[in-house]
Amino acid sequence: MEMIEFEHPVARDFVTRLRRADLPPVQFRAYANRLAYLLAVEATRDLHTVPAEVQTPLENTLGEVLVNSPVIVPILRAGLGILEAFQDLLPDSQVAFIGISRDEATAKPVWHYSSIPDVSGRKVIVLDPMLATGGTATTVLKHLFKMKASDIILVSVVAAPEGIAKLEVFDNLRVITVCVDRELDSKWFIRPGLGDFGDRLYSDGI
Ligand code: URA
Repeated sequence: MEMIEFEHPVARDFVTRLRRADLPPVQFRAYANRLAYLLAVEATRDLHTVPAEVQTPLENTLGEVLVNSPVIVPILRAGLGILEAFQDLLPDSQVAFIGISRDEATAKPVWHYSSIPDVSGRKVIVLDPMLATGGTATTVLKHLFKMKASDIILVSVVAAPEGIAKLEVFDNLRVITVCVDRELDSKWFIRPGLGDFGDRLYSDGI
């Protein structure tokens, strides 16, 4: 596993805004979306291009086009909050859905739903904004590698050291996050964190 703490002042500013308990959901969604564009630029920096001719208004020239667009996998619900930016930057990519929630009593992942195209031999970008225990991420990564995904980039906004440590067993995995926070609390929330990312997007809870 390769770990990248995304060093960008604008990204850090946006995460600080997202942490504010009094930020209303409409603004939380807006900052999550803007931050996602920065993360999408970082996550796509190694994609392959091939030469392609293009006719400008003045002459024919050689440009480059992306090939082998990755499959994007937002983990429901929180992943939806950063999906749009990835789709905007990768308009030819397929989107797969995985619905997993954490059992609040045990923190164990509970699989509800999935709709995943053939990922065999393909690069996959998993969107999991809060990497907490790493339990959900581990379940998803094992599933996608079993489906023969060639390599996976897991994009998060805030990560706990415990979650990062749990993902170290995976090869062909790059984890990108903006902030590595201090710890998980007794209810498996990231501290200082920003609360429940899904609730902050779609409800008004923490
Ligand atoms: N999921 C969240 O949304 N927040 C946390 O702090 C941990 C997991």
